[in-house]
Amino acid sequence: MRRIAVLTSGGDAPGMNPCIRAVVRKSLYHGLEVVGVRRGFHGLVTGDFMEMKSRMVGDILQRGGTILKSARSEEFKTEEGRAKALLQIRTCEIDAVVGIGGDGTFKGLHLLSEMGVPTVGIPATIDNDVGSTEYAIGFDTACNTVLDAINKIRDTATSHERTYVIEVMGRDSGHIALATGLAGGAESILIPEIEYDIQQVCTRIMDGARQGKSHSIVIVAEGAGGEPPVSTGGAFQEGAAYRIGHQIANTTGFETRIIVLGHIQRGGAPSVRDRILATMFGAKAVDLLLAGEDNAVVGMCANQVRAIPFDEALAMKRPINMDYYELANILSNL
Ligand code: F6P
Repeated sequence: MRRIAVLTSGGDAPGMNPCIRAVVRKSLYHGLEVVGVRRGFHGLVTGDFMEMKSRMVGDILQRGGTILKSARSEEFKTEEGRAKALLQIRTCEIDAVVGIGGDGTFKGLHLLSEMGVPTVGIPATIDNDVGSTEYAIGFDTACNTVLDAINKIRDTATSHERTYVIEVMGRDSGHIALATGLAGGAESILIPEIEYDIQQVCTRIMDGARQGKSHSIVIVAEGAGGEPPVSTGGAFQEGAAYRIGHQIANTTGFETRIIVLGHIQRGGAPSVRDRILATMFGAKAVDLLLAGEDNAVVGMCANQVRAIPFDEALAMKRPINMDYYELANILSNL
């Protein structure tokens, strides 16, 4: 092992930069050369590489996003595209690839490893839906961003005695909604994994008002209610929150407002937790490559950083925490 490449792929997540820094500097510490791949797998296919030196990852710990940029590559999904990527890898004398992203990224890395390139995956997605780790890089920061918004919305919700429907990210998963709904005291949390009864949601709001509650907060994941949004991030269409907001306003007769937090959740300075996670994961990935324990995904389990083979990791699903769901329902509706 002499020269490794690092890339970020899929939706960006706060903490990707500290992770790149850890991969680069831990590699340099061990005498390895590092190549940064721009725009994820797309850059691998086109050979969009840059030599990474220590100073190039200076002053990025606190920056959200990814200095390597991220993109979706349709070409890499084809055999020809992967053959081109392999040629770039061989031409540039890259011995291994570290990929930072979610399950989609790991699928790509797994395909590469089947072509004889040692690879290691590092979970980074605000959705926290990677089955092989309890925490993915970016989730904590995104939840803190959502909580900050909930706190602010509460102020105005109380002043005007309104119901607020807040849509958070999570096209296929309710982890952000659940964590922030519990921590933010939402009256109802609607997520893709659990069917909801809109009548029950409305009854709760009306009961709360009778009990003297000054406002109600309903947290909705993008993909709640079955139909996942066609365009993502709530950018070009009225998603779950609009549908649910209208139903609530019509049924309760209460003044109701809708907030779609969207891509704000993906930006911002990574939290302490995400920086530490990113740093530990990045360093572990390099250790795995040096030990010849590649073709694996790094993850956090019971506060320990561990590695799981791609096959196993890709078959794992991260279930939502039903304790959170049940407790939130009890504590916010008394
Ligand atoms: O990163 C995952 C995610 O946050 C999903 O929850 C969301 O639906 C999606 O990204 C939106 O991504 P984009 O708008 O960049 O395609």
